Amino acid sequence: MPELHQQFREAALAVRALLDSDSSPQTHPGFSDAAVQDLAYAALRSWGLAQARLARLAPKAPDPLLMSLLSVAFSCLSRAYRADAVVVDQAVHCARGLGGEPAARFVNAVLRKTLLHPTDAQADEQTPLALWNAPRWWQEKILSQLGHDRAEQVRKAQRAHPPFTLRLLGTELEQREIAHRLGKGAQDLRWLGPQTVIREPACDMAELPGFPEGLVRAQDDSAQRLFGLLGLKAGDQVLDACAAPGGKSFLLAEQAAVDVWALDASKTRLARLSREMQRLSARLAGEVHPAQADLLLDDWPDLVPKEFDHIVLDAPCSGSGVVCRHPEIPWRRSEAQLAGLVRVQAELLQRLWKRLKPGGEFVYIVCSIFEEEAQAQVNHWMDQQPDATPLSSPGLILPALGERDGFFYARFQKAR
Ligand SMILES: C[S@@+](CC[C@H](N)C(=O)[O-])C[C@H]1O[C@@H](n2cnc3c(N)ncnc32)[C@H](O)[C@@H]1O
Repeated sequence: MPELHQQFREAALAVRALLDSDSSPQTHPGFSDAAVQDLAYAALRSWGLAQARLARLAPKAPDPLLMSLLSVAFSCLSRAYRADAVVVDQAVHCARGLGGEPAARFVNAVLRKTLLHPTDAQADEQTPLALWNAPRWWQEKILSQLGHDRAEQVRKAQRAHPPFTLRLLGTELEQREIAHRLGKGAQDLRWLGPQTVIREPACDMAELPGFPEGLVRAQDDSAQRLFGLLGLKAGDQVLDACAAPGGKSFLLAEQAAVDVWALDASKTRLARLSREMQRLSARLAGEVHPAQADLLLDDWPDLVPKEFDHIVLDAPCSGSGVVCRHPEIPWRRSEAQLAGLVRVQAELLQRLWKRLKPGGEFVYIVCSIFEEEAQAQVNHWMDQQPDATPLSSPGLILPALGERDGFFYARFQKAR
C-alpha cells in the first residue's frame, strides 16, 4: 500500500488531468487503487470549496498542481479522512516533492490557517461556490431556468455520490437468480424497474455475479428510459447516432431482433463498445454493428444503410445532468463551449432527420438539463421541420439524489 503522501500526489495529478484534459468527460485516468480514485473525486467535489478558501487565504492564485493538492487536503479535512495532523503532514510532504521548500511552506501555511480558524473554514463551506461546486455562470443558469426549488434538487444531486445502477439481462429466471446473488454482500438493493436495481455499496463491475456471462451491466435509470420507447419490430434498421460506448445500442438490441448501426466519431470509445458487445451479445435479440463515422460529414462507411426505420441521436452535450458522476464537468465547461455544443446538436438533428424513412421515429437525447440543449433546441428545430410530429416521451428528467441522472428526451415521427 503506498504511503498517504504518494496517494495525495497521484490524486492531485489526476485532478489536474481531469480538469485540464480536452478529452471527453467520460474518459478518466486510470487509478492505481480505489483509495486514490476516492481521494481524487472527493477533491473534485471540493474544487469550489478550494477556490473559495484560497481566495480568502492566499494572496494570489497558487500553481494549479498545488491547488489540486490543497483540494485533496481540504476534502480530507472536511470529512475527517485521517487525523488533521496526519493530513497536514502528508500534504506538506507531498508539496515538497512537487515544488520544493516554497511549495511545502505555502501548503503548510494554508492548512494551518484553515485549522486555526474553524469558524472561517465552516463559512467557506457555505459559500455558493462550495455549495454548488460549480462556477457562477453554471449556478445562475440552473437557478434562472429551473427556479429555486428544482435548482436545489439539482444542486443536492450533483454534490452526491452517483448511484450504482445496474441493468439485468437474460431470461426472467436468470434475472431472478442474479438478483438473488446480487443481494448477497449488499447492504441494500433498490428496484427502480423490473430490470433496474441500485446496489449499495458500489463495487467493481467485474466482481458482480453474472458479469462474465453478460447478465448484468451498469447503466443509470434515466439512460434506460430509451428501453421500450420505440416500437421496434424484428428486421428494423435502427441508427444509433453518437453511440459509443454503446449503452443505448444495447438497450435497442435487447428489445427486438433489429439491426442497430452504432455510429460514432471516436475510435477509442467504439473499441469499448466492441468489447462490451462481445460480453453481451448472447443476451441481445438484435445485432449491433459498430462503425466509425463523423456524423457532421456525409462520408459514411459504405456498408451502413442510407435510410433507417428508427433513429436515436444521443448527442454530444454539456453533461450538465451527470455531474454527480463527473464532478469536473462544470469546471471544464465554458459558456462559449456550450454555445458550440448547441450548434453541433442542431446540425446533427438537421442532417440525421434526412436519413429517417417516412413514417419512422426519431429520438433526441442529451444527458443535460440546460434548456438550450433540451426543449429550446427541439423547439427551434421543430420550427424548421413541417414533416415532424412530436410524440410522447420522458421529456426533461431532473437528477435526483442517489437515484438517477438528469436527461432530456424528445421523440418525433416523420410524415409518410
Ligand atoms: C453522450 S455520448 C454517447 C453515449 C452513448 N450513446 C451511450 O449511451 O453509451 C456522445 C457521443 O458523441 C460522439 N460524437 C461527438 N461528435 C460526433 C460526431 N461529429 N460524429 C459522430 N459522433 C460524435 C462522441 O464520441 C460520444 O461518444
